Amino acid sequence: MSVVPWIPSPKIVIEYLRHALGVSSRDVVLDLGCGDGRVLLEFAKSGAIAICIEINKTLCNVTEVIFAIHGLKDRLKIICNDFFKVRLSEIMPKPTIVYAYLYPSILEALAEKLEAELDFCTIIASLDFPIRSWSPIYVKHLIDENDHNRIVWIYVNGISNPKARLLKGNVIDINKCIQACIEKCKRELYLY
Ligand SMILES: C[S@@+](CC[C@H](N)C(=O)[O-])C[C@H]1O[C@@H](n2cnc3c(N)ncnc32)[C@H](O)[C@@H]1O
Repeated sequence: MSVVPWIPSPKIVIEYLRHALGVSSRDVVLDLGCGDGRVLLEFAKSGAIAICIEINKTLCNVTEVIFAIHGLKDRLKIICNDFFKVRLSEIMPKPTIVYAYLYPSILEALAEKLEAELDFCTIIASLDFPIRSWSPIYVKHLIDENDHNRIVWIYVNGISNPKARLLKGNVIDINKCIQACIEKCKRELYLY
């Protein structure tokens, strides 16, 4: 499987997600491959707890230093490891939002793990590439500072993936599932 290099997310994407998802102090945001931590930093400024899983040790250190410079080190947890080796269900506090800017092949390989190990109702946002076996609840097109088209795919665990469609072998009512999810999330999504 190819290794995803470090390419930072553009500001417009981070700002869009911060507003659209209403990121606040009730959130725990996990970035799968956080790079220099720029996405997490903006979310932490809104009060969220930031959890970074990053395989590159230098980038882990850079993220730590950047958070320290901004006085936000106490809101950051770094797991300097391969995300395939980390059991996401054991991460505490539990993520409410997961962000990924990764290759399609990696997303596909991660899909089952995300579905099995993340809590019901966790929001998953993916930049540029979809999780092909899932159905997004929203797709946002943005133009970045270099005039490139960017696409943000937003999913909800339990609604977007097969878990939503099959429960104990029976097909379940998707509307009930959505209602249960909205009630559990108690969150308004501003998907403008
Ligand atoms: C495209 S960059 C995105 C960086 C950051 N999330 C952002 O949006 O600015 C992908 C990052 O994932 C990291 N990465 C790639 N494969 C990984 C793996 N298996 N486990 C943990 N991190 C990984 C890379 O080192 C890189 O920093």
